[in-house]
Amino acid sequence: MKDTEQENKPFTKKTRTCRQFNPWILYAAAIAFLFLLTAYTLITAWEKPIDALLFHTRYTARASFILFLLPFIARPLAQLVNIPATQWLLCNRRTLGLTFAICMAGHFVPTMILLAIEEEASDIVTLILGPIVYFFVALMALTSFDKYKRKAGRHWRTLHSTGNYLILSILIFSYAYVFFVGAETLEEFGGSVTSSPLHNIFLFIIGITLLIRVAAWLKTVRA
Ligand code: HEM
Repeated sequence: MKDTEQENKPFTKKTRTCRQFNPWILYAAAIAFLFLLTAYTLITAWEKPIDALLFHTRYTARASFILFLLPFIARPLAQLVNIPATQWLLCNRRTLGLTFAICMAGHFVPTMILLAIEEEASDIVTLILGPIVYFFVALMALTSFDKYKRKAGRHWRTLHSTGNYLILSILIFSYAYVFFVGAETLEEFGGSVTSSPLHNIFLFIIGITLLIRVAAWLKTVRA
């Protein structure tokens, strides 16, 4: 699972070699996190099963949020600031992306149990967009392996950028909806995401991420 030469291509003359992180450390950490979260959910589920499942979905979603944004921002950030930290991120974005897919699988299981117990656990947008996003996450994870990347050929880039923006749109929806509509109104409409002050911070982070991508794009266009 080594990154291809294309992905590691430098942007400026100031080329720096990057360090590949052992991917198994991150995969093992993600799996350990999911085990601990599941153990905690099972212990607390006896008293309040819905709350326990919501807790699980919330934290798998939050871990996925971070693990999605890091590889999503890696290339534009390295284009703007070519330092070892941004090169490290760029070199290891495949590992981060696959760890994101592991956490998304961790989000899938409790959400399905929740839906089985409580039909109104989710809103209509998530119910429509969610399965499409999961389909893309699975395809993106599969085609991040060199063998399947070659098979995807020229469609690889289209697949990954479409998938990335679909994931981003469900993240923005999950956080912005509560922010703009308000938790009470959301509940009236059978909304899923419980309001939290952290959502404003997550929205702010998404905004910064988009600004960085635009800045990197402008730099490329003007070059
Ligand atoms: C059919 C598929 C899905 C269902 C049924 C579903 C359902 C849920 C539920 C029930 C919650 C917890 C709500 C609460 O805290 O009250 C949640 C939270 C969330 N989900 Fe999903 N989800 C799905 C797919 C996805 C996907 C594909 C993503 C994005 C990659 C995503 C991102 C989020 C986010 C960002 C949160 C909020 C976490 C937080 O509070 O910080 N979900 N989802």
